[in-house]
Amino acid sequence: MLAIETIVEEIQDLKRQRRAIILAHHYQESEIQELADSIGDSLELARSARNFDGGVIAFCGVWFMAETAKVLNPDRVVVVPDADAGCSLVDACRVEDLIRFKRAHPDHVIVSYINTSVEVKAESDILCTSRNAVQIVNSIPAGQPVLFLPDINLGNYVKRQTGRENMKVWQGACIVHATFPARRLVAARSAHPGALVAAHPECPEDVLRMADFIGSTSAIIDWCVHHDAAEFIVMTESGVQHSLLRRAPGKQFHFVANENCNCSECPYMRRNTLEKLRDSLRDLKPRVELAPELMERARQPIERMLAVR
Ligand code: 13P
Ligand code: SF4
Repeated sequence: MLAIETIVEEIQDLKRQRRAIILAHHYQESEIQELADSIGDSLELARSARNFDGGVIAFCGVWFMAETAKVLNPDRVVVVPDADAGCSLVDACRVEDLIRFKRAHPDHVIVSYINTSVEVKAESDILCTSRNAVQIVNSIPAGQPVLFLPDINLGNYVKRQTGRENMKVWQGACIVHATFPARRLVAARSAHPGALVAAHPECPEDVLRMADFIGSTSAIIDWCVHHDAAEFIVMTESGVQHSLLRRAPGKQFHFVANENCNCSECPYMRRNTLEKLRDSLRDLKPRVELAPELMERARQPIERMLAVR
C-alpha cells in the first residue's frame, strides 16, 4: 500500500500535467479537501466550475454536481473519482414523472433543486440550491403556481419562509438529513446545554424547529465561524468539520448520528477516495459525457439561477 504522501504527490503531478482543477464539496474526506483548489457548497462549486483556466475538472462530489459543471463547460473534460457517487434525491425524481406532471399542470413553473439529474434539469424552468432556494422562489411572480422538486423538507421549508400557498412539493428525501431524528437532537442539546444548533434545510421540520440557524453547508460553516458562541451542534454531514476546525480551531462542534447509517456521513459522497481521485486524473475517467442538445436545454435553467443574485 502506498503512503498517503506518495498518492498526494501523484495527484499533484497529474494535476499539473492535465492542467486540471480539483473542486471538492464540503462532504468529502479531509485528505481530498486538502488538495482542492476550491471547496464549497453546490452553488459555490457551480460558480467555480466556470471560472478557471485549464482543460480538466476533477469533481470531488456527487455525479449531479459534476453534470452541472459539464453543462457549464461543454468543451472541458469533467471526471468524478467514483461513478457511483449518486444521490437519493436524484433517484427520487424520474424525468418521465416530471414530464407527466408538466402535461397535467402546464401552468406550473418548475423549480428544481440542483440535486437532480441533467434530464430533469433540462425539463425545469429554473434551478436552485439550498443557499438560494427562498430567493429563487421569491423571484417568481406571486400568482404563478410552482412545483418545487424533489426535496420535501427543503420544499416545505421554502414554503414556510415564503408564505407561498400555490406551491406543490415533490416527495423526495435525502437519506442523510431526513433520517436525523429530532429525539437525538434533543439528547444532544441535553448533553451540550451551551451549544447552538445549525441545521441544513434538508432536515425534517421538527429538527429545523430546534435550529438557531438554517442554511447551506457553506452558510452553516460561516455562521458557526463568525458567531460569538464557542459550541455548536451541527445537523449536516460531518465532512463540514474540516473547514470548521480549520477556520475556528478553538470552538467545539458536535454531530448527531442519523438512522440511516448511525453516522452522519453521506454514503455517496464518501465513495470518492484519494486513490480514485488519482486514477481519475490519470485515466480521465469516469468521465461525464452528455449529448450537446441535452446540455443546451439544461444550461438555461442553470444560467437563470446563476443570474439571480
Ligand atoms: P449544499 O448546497 O448545502 O452544499 O448541499 C448539497 C447537498 O447535497 C446537501 O446534502
Ligand atoms: Fe444527496 Fe443527501 Fe448525499 Fe447530499 S447528503 S449528496 S442530498 S444523499
